[in-house]
Amino acid sequence: MPTLSSRAGRATLALLMLTLSALAIVVASIPTPGRAADPVTVLTSDFEDGTGQSWARRGTVEVVENSTAVAHAGSRSLLTSGRTASWNGPSRDLLSTVTRGTRYTYSVWARAAAGAGSVQLRMSVERRWQGTASYEQVVNSTTVTDGGWTQLTGGYTLANDADFFAVYVETVSGTASFHIDDFSLSYLPPSPIQTDIPSLKTVFAGDFPIGAAVGRPQLLAERGQLLAKHFNSVTAGNAMKWDATEPTEGVFTYTDADAIVAFARANGMKVRGHTFVWHNQTPAWVFNDANGQPMTATAANKTLLLARLEAHIRAVGGRYADDVSAWDVVNEVIDENQSDGLRRSTWYTITGLDYIRTAFRVARQVAPNAKLFINDYNTNVAAKRDKLYNLVAQLKAEGVPIDGVGHQQHGNISWPTGAETDSMIATFIPLGVEQQITEMDTSIYTSSSESFTTPPADRLTSQAARYKAWFDVYRKYKANITSVTFWGLADDETWLDSYPVSRKDFPLLFDVQLQAKPAYWAVIGAASPTASGPASPSASAAPSPSASRSPSASPSASASPSPSPSPSASRSPSASPSPSASPSPSASASPSTGGCRVKYTVTNQWNTGFQADVVITNGGPAAVNGWALRWTFANGQVVNQSWSSTYAQSGANVTITNAAWNGAIAANGGTASFGFLSSWSGTNAKPATFTLNGATCVLG
Ligand code: XIL
Repeated sequence: MPTLSSRAGRATLALLMLTLSALAIVVASIPTPGRAADPVTVLTSDFEDGTGQSWARRGTVEVVENSTAVAHAGSRSLLTSGRTASWNGPSRDLLSTVTRGTRYTYSVWARAAAGAGSVQLRMSVERRWQGTASYEQVVNSTTVTDGGWTQLTGGYTLANDADFFAVYVETVSGTASFHIDDFSLSYLPPSPIQTDIPSLKTVFAGDFPIGAAVGRPQLLAERGQLLAKHFNSVTAGNAMKWDATEPTEGVFTYTDADAIVAFARANGMKVRGHTFVWHNQTPAWVFNDANGQPMTATAANKTLLLARLEAHIRAVGGRYADDVSAWDVVNEVIDENQSDGLRRSTWYTITGLDYIRTAFRVARQVAPNAKLFINDYNTNVAAKRDKLYNLVAQLKAEGVPIDGVGHQQHGNISWPTGAETDSMIATFIPLGVEQQITEMDTSIYTSSSESFTTPPADRLTSQAARYKAWFDVYRKYKANITSVTFWGLADDETWLDSYPVSRKDFPLLFDVQLQAKPAYWAVIGAASPTASGPASPSASAAPSPSASRSPSASPSASASPSPSPSPSASRSPSASPSPSASPSPSASASPSTGGCRVKYTVTNQWNTGFQADVVITNGGPAAVNGWALRWTFANGQVVNQSWSSTYAQSGANVTITNAAWNGAIAANGGTASFGFLSSWSGTNAKPATFTLNGATCVLG
């Protein structure tokens, strides 16, 4: 080793340190293969030392004390007794324990005190900022008894400014005494997002914007990066609802909605506004009469309710008039079990159809640049779909300014089928309305009694096929569909964790560590990289994805359980009416292309790989029906993924053939696009010549 006194030695040492630190950066950026990271526990409370371990009462009268009466483990627990209100209970300050933007798992064992029988408990957090308190549930109402211990587990991310932050346990109602024990607070270390996989928004650039419903946690750190990389539209999952924006009459709160809109602006994303009118998440005051009593159906109450509705839409819609491009003006107003198809919400019982008419009229005035939507779930169910159709037809005939129908598309691994989804869209086309997919997710469950803590491989495969079937339909109807939005960003946080029952669900394209799932690969029309390599025609010629792709792109083993190999194999038969019309190309029967143009753009390049997007334009007078685009790489590049196409490579010669749905290229300027990932080293020259079905194309 060089000594520090020698000049040359110092230089060598400096070089060595530089090399080591460069190495450290590289090592730090390489996630462990398979990275099934273990949770990190930051706090536990077992009460075995005989103290309250910093848990304290929330109120002023209840008693929070160490107890030897019962214990979940060991011999002690924490007992809360002498409660005089349901919110009384044990609380623990966590302000300096949690990191903003990190999602923690909160777990505690609970039990009713002897003789208390059965009690409903919940776990919540209280955060305060500059004197204003907010309360959010971490674990919904859970029944616990005095006969045994019950675990309450849930996740929460502190994403707002806070000068006070604490977790607490309370009863839903009543003042029963209860024990808690073995509290723990842990988090899963976040993985870096995969930066060199295709961005959804790029893959679908020619089709429709791709959106995600988010809260503030999804704007931060890795989740914010994932959101910005893949999505060009965003919906506030809760932040623009009535309970969030006007909790008290005339008092408007926009903190979270503003943060989401600011993120969208900064990242050039569209914003979908959700929602002005719903029967849920509407504060009780909205439906109270002038005396503070629940409204009955009188003329005075109808006037009052419509005035509140108008004031609300003027305020919220006006604030975001420059930002929101589509509003879900009314949400879930259909009930197919009513003969008139109208949900008997308080909105309806007090105002009839006028709340819908008023909402659209006011929204148009105050947000003239936004498209106005009626949004609902189960619109693939014929009875509901048809009732919705009738209502939209009636409202349009009346001149109500309604621009579109939003299909929530909350589904599961086996439902709805491609065929149902197809007729869902087709039904509304004669009305001349825009259509948007507004809340899509695919539960891995088909019954309320199932529960998994990690998703079984076959469920993920079915999920990929389900998404694929839906996207085949969306692409077929891209002229009618103006936006496609997922209800969430990644499986780490989904509303399905507590609906319809509390259990972990995995309904989205990215897993709990934000890595691409089989469903992601199916949606972009690429083979999912697996341990055995992609099942593409060139699998033997091409290196395995993990060998050729940059480290951060290698999916975790757990996330890629060999799903739908080739796009065509995974398509549900019901989806076939659409794209199967376009025949696959056959090299021998190549029609002449007479004037093709190819634009080849490297959109992203890193040290070992690159991503390219290719647009083929058919300038000739004849339509192309099925195509194969060929080129020769000059510098040893090897394609290892493609989307919106199938690839094959033999030596330096690459052949890309159309996907099932983009085989037809219209005459006189029609286009087809696809993209691919490839390895490279040294030089990455663009191919000099392209042929389409044998005919040479013009570049650029
Ligand atoms: C859900 C949110 O995602 C949850 O966080 C909230 O607790 C309940 O509402 N249909 C809708 C959405 O229109 O507003 C709902 O969002 C999901 C179902």
